[in-house]
Parts: sequence; C-alpha cells; structure tokens
Amino acid sequence: MDRRNFIRLAGGGVLVAAGVGSLGGCASFTAFPAEAVEAWSGPGSAERDPRRRAVAYAITAPNPHNMQPWIVDLREANAITLYCDRDRLLADSDPFGRQILVGHGCFLELLVQALGDQGIGARVTLWPQGALPQPLAQWDQRPVARVELAGQGQRDPLFAHVLARRTARWGYDMSKPISADVLRTLSSTAQSNAVAAGGTVEAAQVQRLRDIAREAGLLDKKVPRVVIETLGKLRIGSAEIMAHRDGVALTNFLARFADTFGMLDRKAVPAPGSPADKQMTEMYVTTTQETMGWIWLTTAGNRRDQQVEAGRAFVRLQLKATELGIGVHPMSQALQEYPEMAAHYTAVHRAVLNRDAPRSESDATVQMLCRIGYTTEPTPAAPRRALASVIRA
Ligand SMILES: Cc1cc2nc3c(=O)[nH]c(=O)nc-3n(C[C@H](O)[C@H](O)[C@H](O)COP(=O)(O)O)c2cc1C
Repeated sequence: MDRRNFIRLAGGGVLVAAGVGSLGGCASFTAFPAEAVEAWSGPGSAERDPRRRAVAYAITAPNPHNMQPWIVDLREANAITLYCDRDRLLADSDPFGRQILVGHGCFLELLVQALGDQGIGARVTLWPQGALPQPLAQWDQRPVARVELAGQGQRDPLFAHVLARRTARWGYDMSKPISADVLRTLSSTAQSNAVAAGGTVEAAQVQRLRDIAREAGLLDKKVPRVVIETLGKLRIGSAEIMAHRDGVALTNFLARFADTFGMLDRKAVPAPGSPADKQMTEMYVTTTQETMGWIWLTTAGNRRDQQVEAGRAFVRLQLKATELGIGVHPMSQALQEYPEMAAHYTAVHRAVLNRDAPRSESDATVQMLCRIGYTTEPTPAAPRRALASVIRA
C-alpha cells in the first residue's frame, strides 16, 4: 500500500488524502492527545480500590467502533455490575446489538483477568436479570453481568500483554507466512467451552474469505445509513478527540484540512467515484489482499450469553497475538445483520461453518472473522474515555 496517500484511523480504516496530493507527504500519523490515551498507562498508584483498578484495565477492551458502551456500577460492596450504555449502540451496522455485546465480553474478560492479577477471584453471572431481547428498541437497563469478588484469583499470563494490545490493521509482513502451528496456538488460546475457534492459512480458503470480506466491505460503504453512522463516529483532530475520547479517532493535519474544505462531509455518503469513495474501495481491496490468514470464532447458537462469551474469547486471542507479534484485525462487515448484507452473511457462514446463516438463536453463528499477519510497525493506542465517566459509585 502506498502509505503516503492514506490517513490512518485508530478506530478502523483510512481516509482519503487525494485531492490534496501535493500535501500527501504530510499524511503520517501524529500522536493522540496524551490525556485521551492515558488508560494505556494503567491505573495510577492513587487508585486503591481493587475494583476500580480492575475497571481501569477493562476499559482498554476492544469494542466496535470504539464506542466503549459500558457502565460499571460499584455501589454494591464486593461486586461489580456491568451495564450496556444504550446511548452508545450502533443501530445501523449492528441492528441487534450482537457486536456491542461481543465488546462487553472483551471488557468482562479483562476485568476478570485484572482482578486475578491482584489475587482476587471473580464469580461471573451473565444476565442476572435475564438476557436483553433481540430488537434494540426493547432494550432496557438490565445488567449484562454481575461479578462477585470471591476467593483467591489466579494470574493469567495473557494479562501481561493487556496494555500493549492493539487492533493492528496495517503493516502486515507479506513475506512472513503464519504457520499452521501458530494458527493452532492462537485458536487454542481462544477456544472455550462456549466458543469454537478456527482458522485457515491455506491459500484457496484464505482467498475465498478475502473475496467475501472485500465484497462485504464494498457493499457496506454503499449503504447510506451505515456509512453515515460510521462517519458520525469519526473524531478528527485533537479538539474532537478530547471532547469524545471514543469512536474512530485521528489527528492529522490533512484530515482537518479535508474537513475544513468540505472534502469529508460526515453527514453524506461519499459520491461514487469521489476521492473518498475511491479511497474506501482501495482500503477494502488492499487490506483483504494483505491478509496472511484468517481466524474466526463461532458459537453453537446466537444467544446473548454466547455473544458475550465470544468477546471473552476474542480478547484472549488478541492478547496471545500481541505476545507473538501478530496483528488480529476483525473485518466484521460480512457479519453485520442488516438486510442488505444477507448474501455475504450467508457466504461467510457457508465458508466457515458449511451451513446457512443463523435464523434463530439456536443456530450456529460466526461471531468474529479476523485477518491475521505479522506486524512490521507499531499501532498507536486508541483513545479511551476517562475511568470516572464509566463508573457509578
Ligand atoms: C465485535 C467487534 C467488531 C469489530 N469489528 C471491526 C471491524 O470490522 N473493523 C475494524 O477495523 N475493527 C473492528 N473492531 C476493532 C475495534 O474497532 C477496536 O477494538 C476499537 O477501535 C478500539 O481499538 P483497539 O482495539 O486498538 O483498542 C471490532 C472489535 C470488536 C470487539
């Protein structure tokens, strides 16, 4: 990929720098404001409550569009209750909240690991008041999980990588294949009673999934409400990043330049053939091509507890990959359940599970599909909201 023409996004994807071609050389990524990425230094020594210390790690969890849709209630002693923040859903790309709840699983896994790291055991009860229904419109404020602090915790070796974990989307080494052994190591780390992990580094199957992921991405960028939802989560420049500390964040002279001059209208779909449209096409073509293997997580059904368990497995996978210097980049477009995506949703289920797309919560479901490859360059840490903003105490 010709990196000079791309502006990298911390939350996923790239933006066009075309049209300001003479400035292309300025498109290198600049640092986020320090406060926006303070979570990546871990809890400060002033933070003494072990529950708050654990939450300080959990907020670094990967999650769709970096919406950080969590609320953590600490008002009950010796317990942590996790809720979903309904103001942070992605109704258009994730119409049943499945991905949002996968993100909650990531949060929960890091929370439990961070308690274990302090020698504290955790008894997790998912959906203590029953699971959220399918339609987002019917979601209420019932908890996703209650974690009771109980007994002696175990240190998980994966926790050593928590602050170094990133979603690496760029700079995969095309000369360095992923071996079948390494794929097995990654899969077995993610595998659990609830979640099956599989993958491929075999050329024909890698290509088949590249094709599905690319075509799904190219479709996704044409569905107006979905594109506008994503553009609405862009945070461009320090002021916006500091105001939100979530979403798809970038700070870059060119991005601000493009925005000022209306090249990036975040309330409209980029016109077909426009520089932004071409750039999005290029992004899906290039990233799928620069894929050294695929790894996926599936569950026997598509219940809410299984979605959360998929998240726990996914972050374990990313932590192991961090240890091994491997990038794990979810490409979720083909797994999005809005009607226009149906053909690709079916294709990915056929390719991975050799069965039709799920029609009910008792059907086997692909929860995550990720490209993998050895990384050649560091990925900047993505912003996180302040710890205090997610805690109710
Ligand atoms: C369920 C789920 C789906 C995701 N889908 C995508 C995706 O399609 N494309 C992408 O670039 N990142 C995807 N991500 C990664 C998030 O964008 C990323 O976790 C977030 O921006 C925060 O960045 P970080 O993981 O580097 O901290 C996904 C993450 C989760 C948990």
